[in-house]
Amino acid sequence: MTPPPMAAPSFRGNLFLCLILLFAHLFPLLGLALPPIGSYSAIFSFGDSLTDTGNSAYFSRGDDVAKRIPYGETYFHRPSGRYSDGRIVLDFIAQAMGLPLVPPYEAGHGSDDFARGANFAVGGGCALSNTFYEKKGFNLSREDHSLVTQLKWFQQLLATFSSSSSVLTSSTEILNNSLFVMGEIGVNDYHNLLQGNESIDYARTSVPPVVNAIASAIDELTEMGAKTVIVAGMFPMGCIPLFLTKFQTQNTAAYEPETGCLKSLNEFSQYHNLLLKYELRALQKAHPHSRIIYADYYKALMDIYRSPEHFGMKWPLVACCGGEGPYNFSFSVGCSDPASKWCSDPLSYVCWDGMHYTEAACQVIARGILDGSYVEFPSKQTCFEMFDEMYG
Ligand SMILES: *[C@@H]1O[C@H](CO)[C@@H](O)[C@H](O)[C@H]1NC(C)=O
Ligand SMILES: *[C@@H]1O[C@H](CO)[C@@H](O)[C@H](O)[C@H]1NC(C)=O
Ligand SMILES: *[C@@H]1O[C@H](CO)[C@@H](O)[C@H](O)[C@H]1NC(C)=O
Ligand SMILES: *[C@@H]1O[C@H](CO)[C@@H](O)[C@H](O)[C@H]1NC(C)=O
Repeated sequence: MTPPPMAAPSFRGNLFLCLILLFAHLFPLLGLALPPIGSYSAIFSFGDSLTDTGNSAYFSRGDDVAKRIPYGETYFHRPSGRYSDGRIVLDFIAQAMGLPLVPPYEAGHGSDDFARGANFAVGGGCALSNTFYEKKGFNLSREDHSLVTQLKWFQQLLATFSSSSSVLTSSTEILNNSLFVMGEIGVNDYHNLLQGNESIDYARTSVPPVVNAIASAIDELTEMGAKTVIVAGMFPMGCIPLFLTKFQTQNTAAYEPETGCLKSLNEFSQYHNLLLKYELRALQKAHPHSRIIYADYYKALMDIYRSPEHFGMKWPLVACCGGEGPYNFSFSVGCSDPASKWCSDPLSYVCWDGMHYTEAACQVIARGILDGSYVEFPSKQTCFEMFDEMYG
């Protein structure tokens, strides 16, 4: 684990600047996080089912829930390979940039299909490779779709750009002019470890290697020449029906009073995000010509869980689609199973199927990334941290 950075000699000047910035931040116009429409020529993305736009559905030639109704019902009016009722965060970002929805890498064949970007995110994808889990004695019996593999796919695609005479853009220009999105990744790693009878404390030991794997992937991208990388943090794991059901307890002290989420798992997510932000700060320092942007999924979603009505939502902790149970989630009946039931108003729900978000929740997250209210630039210390280092 990387230790917290040491206090630098003097921060008085910075602190002054910081207070000015804090004041300036009150004026939203200055808070713009991303350049506007037309600034990027393509989007390349990585991650798991929260970012997948169809890769997993392509891999599983037979069955995949994302190929069945009611997945996709709200926006696409048919299953689209996404684990949601509609658009995911990546879709909203692409639309705001004036780019096409990012096509799944598995659906295309080469540079011509991916001139405006490609999505390498796969449902079930882990940050760490299968080898890590095999060493721990797990039999995953599935293909390795980890970040290492996803990065390899990107490099293979990039090579076809350089060699293709029909495509005018060089790989240097692509890296320079594209937006890179590192979607949330890590929850499947933790889920693997929590699936046995392992404790949350045991799963915590895997947070440093998971975060290191994410940081290595971003390091590789920036080394190659990527100029803008958005990195998603972990969502509040203690608020999703899957974990609320799995770790259900009579002990009311285990729940946050204001949200009803599980404290231990939300602390787990915050621990992941804390380590991730340390790593991002180091990466930003090492790559001053690239811009790394942390997308605060945790804050965005906690804002909804704390005051759902403010976002027009009624049922923050209950799945819109799935089986029975206090959170309308069941391990035996998943969304799209013949026995599953689904709500008629997904706009009132944060969670779609017990594990993934509704289009409505994704829109809140994406809006906050685009207008700057849910992003952080890891190069800058927060005023709080500066005070802490000076006087703490
Ligand atoms: C892993 O599981 C698969 C099926 O679930 C089985 O065929 C395979 O033999 C197992 N491998 C090991 C090393 O146990
Ligand atoms: C890289 O992007 C910058 C602006 O983002 C532009 O000024 C520069 O010409 C680009 N270089 C290449 C090789 O595309
Ligand atoms: C987990 O624990 C339960 C009860 O504590 C036990 O019935 C079950 O066999 C255990 N499962 C594994 C995989 O060890
Ligand atoms: C939970 O599921 C039951 C049975 O399908 C349904 O009647 C109820 O309205 C659902 N609750 C919510 C909040 O969606």
